[in-house]
Amino acid sequence: MGLKGLWETHVVPRMIKCACASPAIMELRAGVVPRAQGRVFEIGCGGGLNQQFYDTARVTGFAGIDPSGKLLDYAREAAAQKGWQADIREGVGEDIPFADESFDTAVCTYTLCSVHDPDKVLSELRRILKPGGQLLFLEHGLSPEAKVAGWQRRIEPLWKPLMGGCHLTRPVTAPVLQHGFALSDPGHQYMPGMPKWAAWMEWGIATKSA
Ligand SMILES: C[S@@+](CC[C@H](N)C(=O)[O-])C[C@H]1O[C@@H](n2cnc3c(N)ncnc32)[C@H](O)[C@@H]1O
Repeated sequence: MGLKGLWETHVVPRMIKCACASPAIMELRAGVVPRAQGRVFEIGCGGGLNQQFYDTARVTGFAGIDPSGKLLDYAREAAAQKGWQADIREGVGEDIPFADESFDTAVCTYTLCSVHDPDKVLSELRRILKPGGQLLFLEHGLSPEAKVAGWQRRIEPLWKPLMGGCHLTRPVTAPVLQHGFALSDPGHQYMPGMPKWAAWMEWGIATKSA
């Protein structure tokens, strides 16, 4: 395995797990993830950081996918610690290995920044949700401030290869709405204590319209 392979297999998963577990980010997760109910699917579930926020009284089944073997190890460990049955598989959001209209809730946190094809992923998430099902999302992305967005564009080419393909300049809420979802409880903010180019967060509940 070359240096690039070692970096991506061993260093990136640890950096991601650490960066995505800051107290401020965990607080945002706590406002979004516990709303999951019924049969739940999590895309990019690697790391397992959302496991602690699922309310087992509301969730009747859990499935998740992630392409990273190392992050999947963490996710399976977190699910085992929670003591519930979880169907956690290796896979990508562009081709979700579950049937149409089979989930009540889809959860997507800090993942649309890293997928190859966000449009395909959003189509897949819509496909697997039942009519009226909800996509709970919490993502970082393109700042609404032109000056900050300019810095995001300049930094992204250096950032992306170091951080497992993470983009800084992807819009978050607008693409969700373009895929036939109705938005409720939206929120956005810069995370305090982070450089603005990495700190713009958006979240919300997107309901699949019939
Ligand atoms: C920044 S991490 C966030 C992990 C987790 N969702 C969280 O909230 O802590 C990005 C995640 O997206 C996953 N990922 C990358 N490409 C993906 C794809 N095409 N489909 C699904 N997940 C993907 C990565 O393996 C990684 O687990």
